[in-house]
Amino acid sequence: MSRSYEMQICLGSSCFSRGNKDVVQFIREYLRKNHLDDKVIFKGARCLDHCSNGPNLVINGKIFEGVGLGQVEKILEDELGNLK
Ligand code: FES
Repeated sequence: MSRSYEMQICLGSSCFSRGNKDVVQFIREYLRKNHLDDKVIFKGARCLDHCSNGPNLVINGKIFEGVGLGQVEKILEDELGNLK
């Protein structure tokens, strides 16, 4: 299957200080564990202009706000579950 999914995590200073650093690690591990590395392009983004609602994550153009370690797994399951 080609890489049809694109996920961007905001690495702007506000999102980063709100915890995206930990979310990045979690997502990397999730993609690796589920063998999704070759199906999902995962990259960092500059500030998405939604700082006050961060940390922010974008999956295929859909923005998820306030994403912490408590929410990220469910979001990944919902959005990427059918790739597994
Ligand atoms: S730093 Fe993430 S939206 Fe601004």
